[in-house]
Amino acid sequence: MSAKNKIIIDTDPGVDDAVALFFAMAEPDIDILGITTVNGNVPVDRCEENARKLCEFAWHRDIRVFKGCDCPLKRSVVNAEWVHGQDGLAGMDFVQPSYAGETQSAVDFIIETVMNATEHEVSILAIGPLTNIATAFLQEPKIIPRIRELIIMGGCFNETGPRGNTTPYAEFNMFADPHAADIVFRLGERITVIPMEVGQQVRADTAYMERLRDLTTRCATLCADMLERTAERLAAKTGKTDENETGTSLFDPCTVACLLRPALFSGRYGTVQVNTDAKNEKFGMTLFEEGTKRNCLIIRKADREAFLSMLADALAALP
Ligand code: BDR
Ligand code: CA
Repeated sequence: MSAKNKIIIDTDPGVDDAVALFFAMAEPDIDILGITTVNGNVPVDRCEENARKLCEFAWHRDIRVFKGCDCPLKRSVVNAEWVHGQDGLAGMDFVQPSYAGETQSAVDFIIETVMNATEHEVSILAIGPLTNIATAFLQEPKIIPRIRELIIMGGCFNETGPRGNTTPYAEFNMFADPHAADIVFRLGERITVIPMEVGQQVRADTAYMERLRDLTTRCATLCADMLERTAERLAAKTGKTDENETGTSLFDPCTVACLLRPALFSGRYGTVQVNTDAKNEKFGMTLFEEGTKRNCLIIRKADREAFLSMLADALAALP
């Protein structure tokens, strides 16, 4: 067995998803078995096309891309174009990829890959709403104990202040499919959760965008441009201008760093409850529960400087 970390990335690109995908592509210790896409930041057709565009851009035409669920399990569709732009990638120019993507569904690919691999060989990074993962769990529960680690970006466990970035109570990936998140947290094993507030600890500010530009590679420059456009969009929406409050949070790339260098993160074990009551203002809110069921490591703190250096060093290795 190869010593590389074999992973599936379940994603909704998405600007920070794009940075996470480049990060994973750049890391020599990662073997991306496939990218599975899900309705999230933009509709799934666009997410799937974006994943192929990013692979092409980074000269990774070898990575297979699968289209997944086009709508949440029970709730109505929500997207986040106001953050990521209509195209999901901040309006940047890409050439149309020559690769057409796979015809197998994302859910079938996840099940087949985990079932055919050795036990605990494949990890999943879930950086969009959890619709594909929940569907795969329900369709083939035997995959659950076989997954090495499931690293989820989602939720918020702030003790004071806002509990979300989409409603005052809900973070986007949870709000976009709370029923799927509920299933995954109930059934999942060996889950690591990177919540909203940890992504915010590793914000890309103007200085970091410059640091990426100084790498003078196409991929790092694209990341800087997308992050800058997103920061401008967020600042226009929130009216915030202070350098300490603006910039773009690197939510999704945290999952890659956490897989390879868990020592950069610290947290506590417990389980996660998700509010699935659509009539309640707290719909999509996550609650930490410390009890006998400890299937989740919920991250509270990231080593910002080490993380940012790790990401920049990785991006330097891409074209
Ligand atoms: C999460 O929501 C999405 O908009 C981002 O890509 C990230 O996965 C942050 O709340
Ligand atoms: Ca995402």
